[in-house]
Amino acid sequence: MSDPAAPALKVLIVEDDPNVSLGCQQALELEDIPTEAVDSAEKARRLVAEGFPGIVVTDIRLPGMDGMALLAELLASDPDLPVVLMTGHGDVAMAVQAMKMGAHDFIEKPFSPDYLVEVVRRALDKRRLTLEVRDLRARLQNRDSIEARLVGGSPQMTRVRRLIGDLASSAADVLIHGETGSGKELAARCLHDASLRRGGNFVAINCGGLPESLIDSEIFGHEAGAFTGAGKRRIGKVEHASGGTLFLDEIESMPMPVQIKFLRVLQERTLERLGSNTPVHVDCRVIAATKVDLRELADRGKFRADLYYRLNVANLPLPPLRDRREDIPLLFEQFTLQAAARHGRPVPPPDAERMRRLMAYDWPGNVRELHNVADRCVLGIEQGFPPFATAHPAANRPLAQTVEAFERALIADTLRRTDHSLARAAEELQVAKTTLHDKIRKYDLS
Ligand SMILES: Nc1ncnc2c1ncn2[C@@H]1O[C@H](COP(=O)(O)OP(=O)(O)OP(=O)(O)O)[C@@H](O)[C@H]1O
Ligand SMILES: [Mg+2]
Repeated sequence: MSDPAAPALKVLIVEDDPNVSLGCQQALELEDIPTEAVDSAEKARRLVAEGFPGIVVTDIRLPGMDGMALLAELLASDPDLPVVLMTGHGDVAMAVQAMKMGAHDFIEKPFSPDYLVEVVRRALDKRRLTLEVRDLRARLQNRDSIEARLVGGSPQMTRVRRLIGDLASSAADVLIHGETGSGKELAARCLHDASLRRGGNFVAINCGGLPESLIDSEIFGHEAGAFTGAGKRRIGKVEHASGGTLFLDEIESMPMPVQIKFLRVLQERTLERLGSNTPVHVDCRVIAATKVDLRELADRGKFRADLYYRLNVANLPLPPLRDRREDIPLLFEQFTLQAAARHGRPVPPPDAERMRRLMAYDWPGNVRELHNVADRCVLGIEQGFPPFATAHPAANRPLAQTVEAFERALIADTLRRTDHSLARAAEELQVAKTTLHDKIRKYDLS
């Protein structure tokens, strides 16, 4: 059964003989199938665009453009559109050709109303299915878009995306916890974009980046003359985020006095601008991000426990990259593709040794660091930087290989800095040019 909420599909009849046209319409309308009739192919082509919500039943012989030409044109723009051809006496050869061209079916005149209805129903069923599949695909692509933004096939990242999807439909405030560069802000933006608040503003405040004297007016706003220098009334970021999402980055750095005021905003959803006693209603979802264990901070009295509990309604942990190493190849591929496009450089070819290094490295700067490394790889300046700087302990290789890897990286870096001048590189490394030449060949660095 089709979805009762979906509009019924219709049948466009293209027939220049008014009697036949009327007969078709009546037969179909009797079965509650909506119809529309035109008397030429030229008129029909104007009514049918890609994704047309219905099917076409057309006579072959028409004044001007004929049914065959119409068939070809319609299928060129929408190959899945069912087109049924009506053929007169002696048109059978043409009908066979039409089927080869991709016509859905043909009916030979004269035909019974029942037969027309039967053929049309089959075509409508096919059309409904096609449109449903297209709709499903479009919706999947939508889901893909969060997958395309928050990349990673690891179970941890799959869980993060699922959690974002679940939280998007709720109004709960969210606390995101993760190391530097693990994607906290990106996750917050994805959550905002997936929520019903996507039409409102996403306002980010870095609680650690503002001097204490400014943070108050920045967050809550002020009335004109509230303090020296407050010339005009200013709407604070919380008000600006009303209807949308307020992202409080580095919440652990929020000064205590601001925390107290903020708690009120969270509890009562009102605020007072500096220099005013009139409460202003605000309707924003708060997403806070922290790099530290906020609870432990609260236990030590360095963060208000009540604010912590208020923020921690829903928790979104972002695992460090080293705990989901299987995400590295996909992220690296995506970042090198983007970097290549940005710098107008070719995408570096796959390199097993490089990938081994990327996988073995611990990524203290997480995804942001991987992003930067991908940039360097595209520019060909990765040697000498982690994870290519020294042999990684996790590599677990014999001493000789570790020394060779280091030697190779050092020579590569020197060559890069000396614009591949053998003389200058040899001088810098304090080796004979012939020795350096041999090593360049050995390590395939020329
Ligand atoms: N899963 C991911 N897929 C694609 N890109 C990602 C992913 N996670 C992070 N990034 C990218 O890595 C960079 C750092 O992410 P983001 O700024 O969100 O991290 P953060 O946790 O807020 O860092 P910090 O704690 O330093 O503020 C951004 O360029 C972001 O787009
Ligand atoms: Mg951030």
